Amino acid sequence: MNAREVAGAAARRLEAAGLEDARFEAEVLVREAAGISRAAYFAGAVLDGEARRRLEGWLARRERREPLAYITGWREFFGRRFAVGRGVLVPRPETELLVEAGLDAVRADPGAVLLDVGTGSGAVAVSVAAEAPEVTVVATEISEEALRFAGLNAAAHAPHVGLVHCDLATAVRRADVVLANLPYIPSGEIEALEPEVSAWEPRIALDGGNDGLELIRELVRDCAERLRPRLVALEVGYGQADAVAEVGRGFGAEVSTMRDLAGIDRVVCLRWA
Ligand SMILES: C[S@@+](CC[C@H](N)C(=O)[O-])C[C@H]1O[C@@H](n2cnc3c(N)ncnc32)[C@H](O)[C@@H]1O
Repeated sequence: MNAREVAGAAARRLEAAGLEDARFEAEVLVREAAGISRAAYFAGAVLDGEARRRLEGWLARRERREPLAYITGWREFFGRRFAVGRGVLVPRPETELLVEAGLDAVRADPGAVLLDVGTGSGAVAVSVAAEAPEVTVVATEISEEALRFAGLNAAAHAPHVGLVHCDLATAVRRADVVLANLPYIPSGEIEALEPEVSAWEPRIALDGGNDGLELIRELVRDCAERLRPRLVALEVGYGQADAVAEVGRGFGAEVSTMRDLAGIDRVVCLRWA
């Protein structure tokens, strides 16, 4: 069987496991297992025994709803490959908005210090640092496992990012621009999420407390009272933007929002003069 025929059979298995994008995922797994390009895949490349065995293991993992990116070991974000695996959140496309907000804020001010709080794989901090190498970029993270991935990704794309192991921004003394995709899912809603998230991604990357906003409130307070950046850009969940805007206004910030491709208010920007 050639790669496309193998992918057809793999897609049927993934469909039976309840995956919506079974055909696409089967193609990705086959190409990654065989180490072949899309062109070779369509040209009828044949999988050797080792690639077939690797694929079999990967299909069994995906049938158990392990995230595709944990299996392949990477996810693309802002045009670069980020290493991911158990212990770190897989970066999502909507989070690229935070990178855009950060780049807009620092391009006019190359002497700025930009801070990414709860960096996970390093996706946001490393992307900003790779796009704007003249800017000082610092990233914090509470999870040592996540920090290990951030270290790998910084080494690959932007080795000058400063990685700090701490709670929120507590170990940071200066930041002009703060970006954060903190956990924002209400604790009681996590179990109802798709198994790729609820059963596999780290709880510490998801759980935002009772209403989902506990860490966001704490960070805004610390920024307003101590760090005093000119911008804090926060990713939020569906329906949370108004509440986060209120938190910001309570600390005297001017508020604007950025919408994602689905039209959802996804990033709340708090500005102080
Ligand atoms: C939603 S994930 C986002 C990861 C990454 N920024 C991204 O966008 O892909 C939230 C991250 O915040 C980290 N985190 C949770 N609580 C934290 C805290 N108190 N201080 C610092 N980081 C924290 C988690 O470990 C996780 O990596």
